[in-house]
Amino acid sequence: MTTAPTARKGAVGTAHTRVEGRDKVTGAARYAAEVPFAGLAHGWLVLSTVARGRIRSLETAAVLAMPGVLTVLQHGNAPRVDTGYIGLLGVPPDPTCAVFQHDRVPHMGWPVALVVAETPEQAREAAEALVVHYEEEGYDIAFPGERPDAYPLDGHLPAVVEKGDLEAGLAASAVVVDAEYTTPEEHHNPMEPHAATARWEGGRLEVVDSNQGTTWVAGELASLFSLDPASVRVRSEHVGGGFGSKGLRAHQVAAVMAATVLRRPVRVVLTRRQMFSLAGYRSPTAQRVRLGADADGRLRALEHRSLSLTSTVYEFVEPSAATARVMYDADAHHTANRVVRLDVPTPSWMRAPGEAPGSFALEAALDELAEKCGVDPIELRVRNEPERGPVSGLPFGGRHLLACFREGARRFGWADRDPRPAVRREGRWLLGTGTAAASFPVMARPSTAAVTAEADGTFTVRISAADIGTGARTALTQVAADALETGPDRVRVRIGDSDFGPAMIAGGSMGTRSWAWAITAAAAELRERLTPGAGIPPQGITVRSDTTAAVDALPPKERHSFGAQFAEVAVDAGTGEVRVRRMLGIFAAGRIVNPLTARNQFVGGMTWGISMALHEEAVRDRASGGHYGADLAGYHVATHADVPRIEADWIDDPAPDPDDPVGIQGIGEIGIVGAAAAVANAVWHATGVRHRSLPIRPDRVI
Ligand code: MOS
Repeated sequence: MTTAPTARKGAVGTAHTRVEGRDKVTGAARYAAEVPFAGLAHGWLVLSTVARGRIRSLETAAVLAMPGVLTVLQHGNAPRVDTGYIGLLGVPPDPTCAVFQHDRVPHMGWPVALVVAETPEQAREAAEALVVHYEEEGYDIAFPGERPDAYPLDGHLPAVVEKGDLEAGLAASAVVVDAEYTTPEEHHNPMEPHAATARWEGGRLEVVDSNQGTTWVAGELASLFSLDPASVRVRSEHVGGGFGSKGLRAHQVAAVMAATVLRRPVRVVLTRRQMFSLAGYRSPTAQRVRLGADADGRLRALEHRSLSLTSTVYEFVEPSAATARVMYDADAHHTANRVVRLDVPTPSWMRAPGEAPGSFALEAALDELAEKCGVDPIELRVRNEPERGPVSGLPFGGRHLLACFREGARRFGWADRDPRPAVRREGRWLLGTGTAAASFPVMARPSTAAVTAEADGTFTVRISAADIGTGARTALTQVAADALETGPDRVRVRIGDSDFGPAMIAGGSMGTRSWAWAITAAAAELRERLTPGAGIPPQGITVRSDTTAAVDALPPKERHSFGAQFAEVAVDAGTGEVRVRRMLGIFAAGRIVNPLTARNQFVGGMTWGISMALHEEAVRDRASGGHYGADLAGYHVATHADVPRIEADWIDDPAPDPDDPVGIQGIGEIGIVGAAAAVANAVWHATGVRHRSLPIRPDRVI
């Protein structure tokens, strides 16, 4: 290999189909529940059928006599686990994952037993036959708009940030918007259900899993079971979707317990219905936004308060009010994220946690302000573009929101828009267009990578990255090829194995950015180690990187991706049905590694925004504490027929941040941000009616 300047066109920035695409479409790629093991036993979880109380007894004897049944794990016989630790992500474990440790039932769908049998069918039949006697207690599942026991919760962001005198700012404002917005409980439910197989092999615990971070899950299992971290290996090669739901969950822990007790491999797979209580979900939100502005639309006062729920066993906050801290400035600027504890499963990260519901409320309120001021919604945002971080005062590491609006407006045809609502009709359809802004933080976490120059002139990268369907494996192949000054066909990237060492999870839109950083560092050092013309030994030459110091040295800035969302809707004046006719999203997200898979990410997020605006809503039955229709028939999501035309594109980053050594930003989450608001704003433009509660169902429209 040569270190001389090369005329080679880089792989980054060019379209590449997925390196594992052929394996996936031919069925050669194995997902977690498909990996074969000799002597495999199958566990089936039994979930509580009451919303709160205690387990009085379980009739296990009858079940143990059923064909093929090997054991029934429950709180009376399960191995003990330790939950008194802080995990890789800096938070204690959700006790929901520490299964079978006590007889309390804190919500409907709580794991009360694992039935293990020779076949999945035997396990399922026995699990469904297991009679559990409960001592039932009263429960509280009603998510309210406000209540006295709600309290501020920090999460990864401060709960409350206040500057200036809010009431004085509102009083001095010529125009005030004061509105409440609600979003319902929403579920991610990836196509591939959660699945894990645990076994002990050569004194090590090995788990074949479907997750968003193998070192993360391995670390949690080591802590829970008090094992030497080096004795735990978690593999997760192909993942059929994650969206925040695939971290440590009850089924991996149950599988490890059963494998330990039975001394044979045990697989536990969640059913679609079980995922509605065991895989996390997005909390419902009740948000109040108050905006005060001068007559020309310049903000004087901004308040965004959000309430979400958490369970009685764990604190999780959906930080919906935080996006205002980045988007808009005002002399008086108050934001607060609060929670209330209810007898429900613990909510969790779900694509753009905080930003997705928060942008619905904030960007819809901006649209209401534009209407009241008689200012075009895009012009309103131009007038409120901050110079620095509104709350932090830090400089932006690039803020290209207005460039996105300019390009989006041009392509969407915004200039011709008549601002008046409810004046366009096409037969029974009322037509309207709407827009909204999007942003998502750009972060990175320390990661390690190993790059090997093989004797045959190819390269192998090993990193415990996760490709949850995003195309990360392909993107990293392109990044490595450029860093090694070779072609992607000469690089193989191996991921999804905790033995490759610590790395960031596929989450927070910082996976590819964090992993690319580590791979680039290792590749650069490897290139220095290679002597032109010298041979490479049979075992190859390997260099390992660790970006901890580099990540810590990054100067603090407001680093975010931005975007502008546009939607055109048609509303059936007779039935109230809303159809999205077209959608356009223009994003500014740094260097785009692979236009093909990047477009998939943006379009996927935007499609989910349509789904959020019009379809998705998990409803709990107050009489039982459980869901109505906890499956993909009862829980409505946007399908192809709901999304006739959806386009995503991006602007070339005009001024890359010189302090940022990576240049790659996250794109996994920003596509959903602002998308629901753009649709809701278009529905107002079509009908003249503001819909502040999602989803915008036909019965709410008429
Ligand atoms: Mo994403 S919700 O950070 O997996």
